Amino acid sequence: MQFTAKTFQGLEDILSGELRQIGAKDIQIIKRAVRFKGDKEVMYKVNYLSRTAIKILWEIDVFYADDYDKLYKNVKKIKWNNFLDTDKTYAIDKTVYSKFFNNSHFAALKTKDAIADFFTDLKGIRPSVDTRNPDLRINLHISNKKCTISVDTSEPALFKRGYRIQRTEAPINEVLAAGIILLSGIKNKKNIIDPMCGSGTILIEAANILLNIPAGYYRKNFGFQKFSDFNTELWVSVKNNADKLIKKDTGCRIIGHDIDFKAISASRINISRANLSNVIDLQLKNFFRIAKHKEPGIIITNPPYDVRLKEKNIFEFYKNIGNTLKRKFTNWTVYIFSGNIEALTKIGLKPTEKTDLYAGNLKSQYVKYELY
Ligand SMILES: C[S@@+](CC[C@H](N)C(=O)[O-])C[C@H]1O[C@@H](n2cnc3c(N)ncnc32)[C@H](O)[C@@H]1O
Repeated sequence: MQFTAKTFQGLEDILSGELRQIGAKDIQIIKRAVRFKGDKEVMYKVNYLSRTAIKILWEIDVFYADDYDKLYKNVKKIKWNNFLDTDKTYAIDKTVYSKFFNNSHFAALKTKDAIADFFTDLKGIRPSVDTRNPDLRINLHISNKKCTISVDTSEPALFKRGYRIQRTEAPINEVLAAGIILLSGIKNKKNIIDPMCGSGTILIEAANILLNIPAGYYRKNFGFQKFSDFNTELWVSVKNNADKLIKKDTGCRIIGHDIDFKAISASRINISRANLSNVIDLQLKNFFRIAKHKEPGIIITNPPYDVRLKEKNIFEFYKNIGNTLKRKFTNWTVYIFSGNIEALTKIGLKPTEKTDLYAGNLKSQYVKYELY
């Protein structure tokens, strides 16, 4: 089976490492995605375990077409009853780069019609379309004449971990949070602090990584469970084998602060939902007034980078971050993720590592400082 795991730009290497560890074969990195081969077990495992995949697409057909009619005929040939039924709903996602198909909406419409007509011929009725919460999300990818039809084995997307029941204004995506923690290669020796923790995503992802809690542990369902060939026994064994490896102790303290009471209470609710209240400590605290910690540790954080703070203030804000780090965090290792690259330069410390990442389309940076 040929799969494509989608991710954020900049996390492709981390994702390919995860896939290799899970047992995927023929791993090939492409932009914002990693292609790989595997069987059904690998597909279940990747969905359950990968922290940096956004979704896993399974390529079910590849054909060549140079007009809408050929596209329709080829899509209609696929045995859609293996994935869908007339009481279920479906949606089409599309990516089209082709002079033969200059109207991508029409290409998606022809694909949708071909699937509906497949069922009308078979059963006399057709499944309905639901673009928001479909039972089956289908992906149409056209590159010139090459048409690839995939089904989304993850739906809903894998960043929907199931623990974030309270949001603050600018939460970091769960996949991105896991990605930056894995990029930092933390070991469970030193305490980890997110001093601007918002809704607690970095804290929860860090705890899950250190405790070996599978990324999909809190989720109720995955797209593949709705396929007609879903193997319950295999899925239960994949899940049980992974859950057996969950550890009890992080080996360090994980601490979250925020200046905003609403953020701390959102974190508290999410952490409790993730059953991690015993491993994560929270305190309402202004980072700029923080007291010196007894022992050095690791900071992983994403400060505000929004244009809501006016430019002059945001530069000042980052300058203050730098000053606080210099004064209070001697011998600490600090990782900062920000979508405001210019503001990052105002921190006034020399990064020992810099990684370009994209939060969606926003060019961002992940910087590391070793403070002496
Ligand atoms: C981009 S958000 C962090 C989002 C978080 N990673 C999450 O997943 O929800 C930045 C956070 O910094 C907090 N903040 C701003 N100024 C602060 C300060 N001086 N001290 C501590 N926290 C601060 C804000 O309240 C906000 O929750």
